[in-house]
Amino acid sequence: MESKKAKLALIGCGGIGGYHLGHFMGFTDIIDMVGFCDLIPERAQAFCEKAGMGEAFTDYKEMLDKTKPDMVFVCIPPYCHGEIEYTLIERGIHFFVEKPLALDIELAKDILRRAEAAGLVTASGFQCRYSNLVEPNIDFIKRNKIFFVSCERMGGIPMVEWWRDKARSGGQAVEQTIHQFDIIRYVYGEPDVVFSMNATGLMQNVPEGYQTDDLSVTCVKFKDGSLGTISTGCYVTGGDAYDSKVVFSAADRRAELKILGTLNIFGETESEAAGDEGGFVVKGDGAVAKGSNNAKTYHQQGDAGILCDRTFIEAVINKTPAAVRSPYRDALRSLAFTMACNQSMETGLPIRIDDLLQGI
Ligand SMILES: NC(=O)c1ccc[n+]([C@@H]2O[C@H](COP(=O)([O-])OP(=O)(O)OC[C@H]3O[C@@H](n4cnc5c(N)ncnc54)[C@H](O)[C@@H]3O)[C@@H](O)[C@H]2O)c1
Repeated sequence: MESKKAKLALIGCGGIGGYHLGHFMGFTDIIDMVGFCDLIPERAQAFCEKAGMGEAFTDYKEMLDKTKPDMVFVCIPPYCHGEIEYTLIERGIHFFVEKPLALDIELAKDILRRAEAAGLVTASGFQCRYSNLVEPNIDFIKRNKIFFVSCERMGGIPMVEWWRDKARSGGQAVEQTIHQFDIIRYVYGEPDVVFSMNATGLMQNVPEGYQTDDLSVTCVKFKDGSLGTISTGCYVTGGDAYDSKVVFSAADRRAELKILGTLNIFGETESEAAGDEGGFVVKGDGAVAKGSNNAKTYHQQGDAGILCDRTFIEAVINKTPAAVRSPYRDALRSLAFTMACNQSMETGLPIRIDDLLQGI
């Protein structure tokens, strides 16, 4: 590593910007935070004060001119992408861009082409890829043939105003549950076709400006022939209805991932006395003796977000782009996975993901 510290700037001093800032403050051995930019001046100013360094801006071009950063974290809402990335590329500045990359897949493809042609190191905010749960999950999948992947992510409506407008957020699959779509791709494999349905208008007492799906359900056919479902909703108001998990189901065992929480592997520990209760209507109709429900449990250790950010920063400094687990090119595939769901909801048709990725 070079002894001189790298210069880092951040655009978008909102919720996720603050998460990254918290990480940067532990990286002062390798970076100087030179600038923070937000359209709302107080936000940028507050970041400077928290960092104890850097200058506040409301115009990102002015920030780039003045501070000449080596890398920029782009932490703006989904509908705001484009001009900022093009400017960074023109100036040869490496960038980390929060998920989802954009709401226009053609725009994201164009940014990818230009960023790669400029030889830039890129990353996206899929910090779950850096979790210690990933390795045992991949190991389980390597050792067991998976037939079915089932994912549920049922929660409430996030506070940020733009989130509840699908035209600006992309909707829940694109903006939020993309973490689950992405981790399924990362630990398991590539999807081929999706077929999605959405439900709207079911929720009562929605906040002003709410114009998005209450929930959606997606059927996935993977390239290896297996199937999955990914269901996601924002209708939940009570903790007992909250649910978030991905289950990888094999013939005699399953792995249940709670992203950044736990990985439970059922069927690989000693079974207690088996029973046959639960879920089947008539004995002999396909029920198998119930397993012990004993799981080998792995717990999240450390902060995957710190690793994610540090890996990108070190990749820029040390010129090791391959260390980044979620470069722009790969993040684009997860965007396409979720955008295909939206396209399916709009057309009522199954959508092949590779059709959205043509030309890259
Ligand atoms: N990786 C994760 O787990 C994670 C978690 C939360 C949010 N996110 C993503 O981060 C992005 C931002 O989400 P958020 O919750 O921080 O939103 P936010 O609304 O809290 O913050 C976005 C900030 O960007 C600023 N901004 C917008 N356009 C700008 C521009 N041209 N120049 C300067 N500032 C600009 C806004 O003023 C706002 O302060 C979203 O894409 C979201 O999906 C990722």
